[in-house]
Parts: sequence; C-alpha cells; structure tokens
Amino acid sequence: MISERENPIDLFNAWFEEASDTEPNDANALSLATSTPGGLPSVRIVLLKSVDDRGFVFYTNLGSRKAQHIQSNAHVALCFHWKSLRRQVRVEGPVEAVSDEEADAYFDSRPKMSQIGAWASRQSAPLKGRFELEARIAEFTARFNIGKVPRPDFWSGYRVIPQTIEFWQDQTFRLHDRLVYSRVDNQWQTNRLYP
Ligand SMILES: Cc1cc2nc3c(=O)[nH]c(=O)nc-3n(C[C@H](O)[C@H](O)[C@H](O)COP(=O)(O)O)c2cc1C
Repeated sequence: MISERENPIDLFNAWFEEASDTEPNDANALSLATSTPGGLPSVRIVLLKSVDDRGFVFYTNLGSRKAQHIQSNAHVALCFHWKSLRRQVRVEGPVEAVSDEEADAYFDSRPKMSQIGAWASRQSAPLKGRFELEARIAEFTARFNIGKVPRPDFWSGYRVIPQTIEFWQDQTFRLHDRLVYSRVDNQWQTNRLYP
C-alpha cells in the first residue's frame, strides 16, 4: 500500500528517485495531454526537467502544436508510468510559463548540438525532407560556431501547477491502491479511490 505523506511532491520525489534507479531509461518521461480549441484531446511524451512545490516543468518549442493548444486552454494533464515499479502518477492543472531566467539557465546546461537543434527545428511544422532540416542545422551551426548559443525566443518551459496528483500502485488481483491529493484552499486533501 502507498504510505501517505503530507506533501504529494515529497511522495512524488521518493517515487521518482526509485524510478530513476530501476527504469531502463527516461524515468522522467511523461505523457502530456492538451486539447485543441474545439476540445479534441492530443497526447505526446515530454521530459520532466524539474519539480518542486510550484509544479512540474518541461521545455518545448513555443510554436509547436502543444504550445498552440496551451495558448487556447492552459489546462493540461500529465501521466508517468514506471513499468519496473508498476506505478503510475497522474497530474492535472493549469500551466504557467517559466521565467526567462529559469529557461536560460536550463538552455545553457544543454549540449551545444541540442541548443542548435532547438534553433533549427520548427517543431510540428511540415518538413519537405530530411535535407531541409540538415540544411537548417548547418546554417545555425555556422551562425553559432563561436561562443555561447543564446536561447531562441520561441523555445522555453512550462510549469504545470498541480490541482490534483494521483498515485497508483499495483496490487494483487488488480485491487490496486489509488491515493489522490486535491488542492483545496491551498491545502492538500487526500482521498483513496476504488481501483
Ligand atoms: C522520450 C521522449 C522524450 C521527448 N521529450 C520532449 C520534450 O521534452 N519536449 C518536446 O517538445 N518534445 C519532446 N518529445 C517529442 C514529443 O513527443 C513530440 O513529438 C513533439 O514535442 C511535438 O509534439 P506536438 O506536435 O504535439 O507539439 C519527446 C519524445 C519522446 C519519445
């Protein structure tokens, strides 16, 4: 059974630490669900880059399909699945943009080729062929050949501010344990749900 903690972020961090030791790769991979202005759902994987009491941070291209969805509806849902531990964590809430300083600090920590990749990719736009992307990579490699690569103004991060966080732990005979934290008047309340 899941041992309850007062703060769900503490519980998340404990599970994430275990998953980082046991998952073969990308323990920080999560499914991010957004919706179109018409309410149609859309889901894809992104990587969690930081988490604290303020929320869950991922980075992306601000012209991408997901970013366009977020502009029209800031409410998103996240889902982590750690197969090796038979655990799932679901998060729901609105997003806010991270500060320029925070995005700069993370961008600066990335390998130079990933920084150039961020400049070269028009994420989610149609691509005529691989040659077009390679030509853009060559263009930005030449442009930023010397010195630091600045963060493009179309690339940054979002922080998902959790309103609910659900922890799911596999139990025998599919009688799984589900613990939900809900934010009520800025306090976390907990409930257990039928599996
Ligand atoms: C393991 C994995 C990690 C990924 N991490 C990111 C990420 O951190 N940020 C991102 O924008 N896309 C990431 N992607 C690519 C996205 O899944 C997606 O293809 C891309 O962001 C375009 O999505 P969109 O067209 O819905 O905006 C990742 C894909 C995988 C499989």
